[in-house]
Amino acid sequence: MLQIDHPIPDLVNQQITSAAMSLRKGDVVAFPTETVYGLGADISQPLAIQKIFDIKGRPSNHPLIVHFGNSADLGYWAKDVPAAAWLLARYFWPGPLTLILPKSSHIPTSVTGGQETVGLRIPRHPVALKLLKELGDRQALAAPSANKFGCVSPTTADHVKNAFHGTLEVILDGGPCEIGLESTIVSCVSNEIMILRPGGVPVSAIENVLKQKVSIKSQSKIRTPGSLASHYATRTPLEIYSDSKSVLSRLSELMYKGIRTAIVSREPYLTSVLSPSDNLHFILMPNDPVAFGKRLYATLRKLDDANFEQILIEAPPDNLEWLAVADRLTRASHLFHK
Ligand code: TXA
Ligand code: MG
Repeated sequence: MLQIDHPIPDLVNQQITSAAMSLRKGDVVAFPTETVYGLGADISQPLAIQKIFDIKGRPSNHPLIVHFGNSADLGYWAKDVPAAAWLLARYFWPGPLTLILPKSSHIPTSVTGGQETVGLRIPRHPVALKLLKELGDRQALAAPSANKFGCVSPTTADHVKNAFHGTLEVILDGGPCEIGLESTIVSCVSNEIMILRPGGVPVSAIENVLKQKVSIKSQSKIRTPGSLASHYATRTPLEIYSDSKSVLSRLSELMYKGIRTAIVSREPYLTSVLSPSDNLHFILMPNDPVAFGKRLYATLRKLDDANFEQILIEAPPDNLEWLAVADRLTRASHLFHK
C-alpha cells in the first residue's frame, strides 16, 4: 500500500498526469483515497459534475464532497469558518474528515445539491494528493464514493472496475484503501458541532481535539444520502445477531431449509462448534474496530459475489469506538428487516 511519505512509482505518476488532463477535459476519473475510492470531477465544470450523477445513478439534489489539496485554502472554499473547524482541519487534514461549512461563492450549487453548505475534505492518500496538486492551485474535485448509488463502497480499484466496466475510462489504482470506511462527516454550521456520519476519524479523537463533547446525529434533517436506510447495502440479505445462542438457533433453521449461509463473526468459538459445508461458510473478523472496518466492505462484496443466500453478522460492541462499523452494518441490514 502506498503511504503518504512513500514515493509514487513512475508509472503511477504518469497515470496521474494523464488523469489530471482527463479531468481538465471534463471527464470523470476514479481515484484512491485512504477511506474508499472516489469518482472525481472538476467542480468548475457543470457537465462533468452531471456525469458523476449519471454514472453513479444518484439523484442530483444529493450533495457531493469537495476534495482539495491545501488546508490554507479552507477560507477560500468556505465562509464564516468557526475556530473549531480550523482546529479540526489542522489536526486531521490531510485525512478521513469531512467538514460541513457554509459554502463560499467558489463552490457551485450543482455540487452541493442546491444547499448553501459544502462538505470539504483533504484526503491523505498520496495518489489523491498528487492528483489534486497536478490539477493546480485552487482547483478541486467533487467526489462521491465510486459505487453505484446505494451499493457498498469500493476499497480496491478492482471493485471500481467491476461496477463501472465500460463506462469509466480512467481508474487510478492506489492499492487497497488504508481505512476502508468513509470519512467522518462533522457539521460546523450554526455554532454547533455535530457528527453527521461516523467514519475514519473516531468521535473520541474529535472530542479530544475540541476539548468538548460533540453530538451525534442519528436521523439528520440535513440531506445526507448516507443516512438513507438502504445505503451501503449488500445484494445478499444480511442479518445482525447479538449472541452465539441466537445465531446457532437461526442457523439450524437456515440449514434445515438448505439456505447457503455465511457467518461473519469476531468469535473463534463458533468455528469449533460449526462444521463448514457447501451451505455454510465462516469468516473470522478481527476484534478491533479499525482492523474490522478496513476489511468490512471487501468481505461483504466477496460474500455477495460468492452467491450466498444469507449473511449473518455478529453485532459490534455497543461503544463509540465501533460506531462507524455499527452504522454501516445497521444500514446494510435494514433493507432486509421484516
Ligand atoms: O470518505 C469519503 O468521504 C468518500 C471519499 C471518496 O472521499 N466520499 C464519500 O462521498 O463517502 P459520498 O458522496 O459517498 O458521501 C458523502 C456524504 C453524503 O452522505 C452526502 O450527503 C454528505 O456527504 N454531504 C455532502 N455535502 C453535504 C452537505 N453540504 N451537507 C450535509 N451532508 C453533505
Ligand atoms: Mg457513498
